[in-house]
Amino acid sequence: LMQTLTLNNGVQMPALGLGVFQTPPEETRAAVAAALDLGYRHVDTAAAYGNEREVGQAIHDSGVPRDELFIETKVWISDYGYDETLHAFGKSAGKLGVDHLDLLILHQPLPSDFGKTLDAYRALETLLADGKVRAIGVSNFMVDHLSALLDAATVVPAVNQLEIHPYFQQREVQALDSRHGILNQAWSPIGGITFYRDSGHTSALDDPVIGEISRAHGKSPAQVMLRWGLQQGRSVIPKSTKPERIAQNLDVFDFELAADELAAIDELDTGKRGGPEPESITLAQFGRPIPEA
Ligand code: A2P
Repeated sequence: LMQTLTLNNGVQMPALGLGVFQTPPEETRAAVAAALDLGYRHVDTAAAYGNEREVGQAIHDSGVPRDELFIETKVWISDYGYDETLHAFGKSAGKLGVDHLDLLILHQPLPSDFGKTLDAYRALETLLADGKVRAIGVSNFMVDHLSALLDAATVVPAVNQLEIHPYFQQREVQALDSRHGILNQAWSPIGGITFYRDSGHTSALDDPVIGEISRAHGKSPAQVMLRWGLQQGRSVIPKSTKPERIAQNLDVFDFELAADELAAIDELDTGKRGGPEPESITLAQFGRPIPEA
């Protein structure tokens, strides 16, 4: 049974969605089709992933009514600025084959030109007011970025999508989000994409604490990590291209972790991120242009 979360503007979002970060375009259509067939109703993509068109094709082919779907995508930094971000909405919606999005978020803060980040967010506010998007938000915003945005913004973001998994929990940002009614959404929720040079584990999938809890419940380590996120009120968007894993990752609504199990997972935080440091993102290094629809 799919659980839904209520965003700070009243919009309902399925708590669990399919992530397609690092899903190659040629594998995206099949992965999204498998997920929709299994009962997923939330897909998270991004202009920068280069697979919005394939997500849109799978959505179209599925025949699932648009109002049953929750489609989330992200504006890339090369499209920041007010007019540019309004235009970026059209590029993403065109590739996805939809007239509106359920959630549109800024993919990264651009610390080296934060004014452009704020202009981009103002465009999201306009798109929200015009009914082009049902909710707006941010991603990878750390405490300073979020504080500066909240000072300038009219609309409090509905979501902050962050790297959150047992080895990197970002509790300070999560707490600030929660204080402002901003939903924490976890990318890489099973930590599968990331690498931990110093921990002795390649990912928390092999962690002995996770392993012990997973055996106690007859669930996989990935399912335990997703459950840990969901029970802490987060949205989780695990990525897989393999139908059996896509199915497994959805099968997390029939068991519950005990308080001491949640606490044991809380202990695993290493404070080391797998993804890029948000403060280091620059247009010069990462700002490749997003093609037209
Ligand atoms: P694959 O696409 O080959 O299944 P996350 O979204 O947390 O970063 O996890 C994504 C990574 O974890 C991908 O490498 C994905 O590989 C792998 N993965 C996804 N689901 C599972 C699962 N249930 N068990 C093990 N690995 C998984």
